Amino acid sequence: MITVTVDLKQRSYPIFIGSGLLNQPGLLDPYIEGRDVLVVTSESIAPLYLEPLQQMLGQSRHSVVVLPDGEHHKNLTTLNLIFDELVAQRFGRDCVLVALGGGVVGDMCGFAAASWQRGVDFIQVPTTLLAQVDSAVGGKTAVNHAGGKNLIGAFHQPLCVLADTDTLRTLPERELSAGLAEVVKYGLIKDAALFEWLESVAGKLINRDSPSLGHAIKRSCEIKAAVVAADEHERGQRTLLNMGHTFGHAIERCAGYGTVLHGEAVAAGSVMAATFSMRLGWISEADVERIKDLLVRLALPTQPPGMDAEEFYSAMSLDKKVAAGQIRLVLLRAIGDAELVTNYPGDQLLQLLREQLN
Ligand code: NAD
Ligand code: GLY
Repeated sequence: MITVTVDLKQRSYPIFIGSGLLNQPGLLDPYIEGRDVLVVTSESIAPLYLEPLQQMLGQSRHSVVVLPDGEHHKNLTTLNLIFDELVAQRFGRDCVLVALGGGVVGDMCGFAAASWQRGVDFIQVPTTLLAQVDSAVGGKTAVNHAGGKNLIGAFHQPLCVLADTDTLRTLPERELSAGLAEVVKYGLIKDAALFEWLESVAGKLINRDSPSLGHAIKRSCEIKAAVVAADEHERGQRTLLNMGHTFGHAIERCAGYGTVLHGEAVAAGSVMAATFSMRLGWISEADVERIKDLLVRLALPTQPPGMDAEEFYSAMSLDKKVAAGQIRLVLLRAIGDAELVTNYPGDQLLQLLREQLN
């Protein structure tokens, strides 16, 4: 087992990464002993991993809420199912919530923990690659609104993250690729060596080579932990973690939540951001091609589905990075070097959207 620490002083927490962690009794004991536990999971994850997790809970009094599966259920109506169970069980401020699942379950369980009785503890047990490299770490929790992605949420850090890499064996291929999109993102914004390594092991990653996946998870968590430790509430460098997301969230919203996977939208959005960076004279055409080649080898899309450019622009303008009415974009100075940009020609952005979307 490898442990990466998110250093937030008295709120620091470990990310445990390794094979077979869901069969390691005692690992969660320091966080749950003597406390009421509510496990939050989903219809498709419960049959696979609920039983081993319940074994780990030992004698703790616990209850389970099984949510309907999928991004289109990541909303206030589904969130209420968690509160209904907390009320039914009369769980108080000393309870612990455990998110067992992908980013959708993790984001919803985290938001429920952030708001139940003004905030209770929670633990992340991510079962998708995307959640293990990104969403379970860093304390962003949210649900979607019909008007935009993740618009309703809170920052709320978990007590610990337990990433059992064995769970990736049952992950559908498309979901594995979606997770790899976020690993590519870390390479693009912070770590050219990671990007080069991904180019050298793309085939192994797609074939679920354990050591390669383990390294990708560890390096991603190290990068994310460092960024979150430096800027927990996204007032500075944490915005860089949203590379490809301003375009990506608009893709998800305009295509209909759940149609294009989050990671797929990030992949296509990263190419849009890279292409715009090239047009501003920042990166070369060869770099854009390199990015596209890697994404193709990871079975990811390099362009969005056809959609209306004006509607897309309107969805982008609801992005959480919008400041003083201006859409802020994370663009690339080089592979491994990103920057948040406000000052760009707006007409060029609209032109890019019309070309890429219509
Ligand atoms: P997801 O949670 O919808 O999971 C993908 C699918 O895989 C689901 O159908 C799920 O049931 C299934 N699944 C999960 N684990 C499985 C396993 N081990 N075996 C078989 N099937 C399994 O999607 P995701 O990609 O994990 O997460 C995407 C969500 O994460 C989006 O809502 C996105 O906004 C959010 N996100 C949040 C952050 C953050 O910082 N909080 C960061 C990135 C993404
Ligand atoms: N996924 C972006 C962030 O956590 O900041």
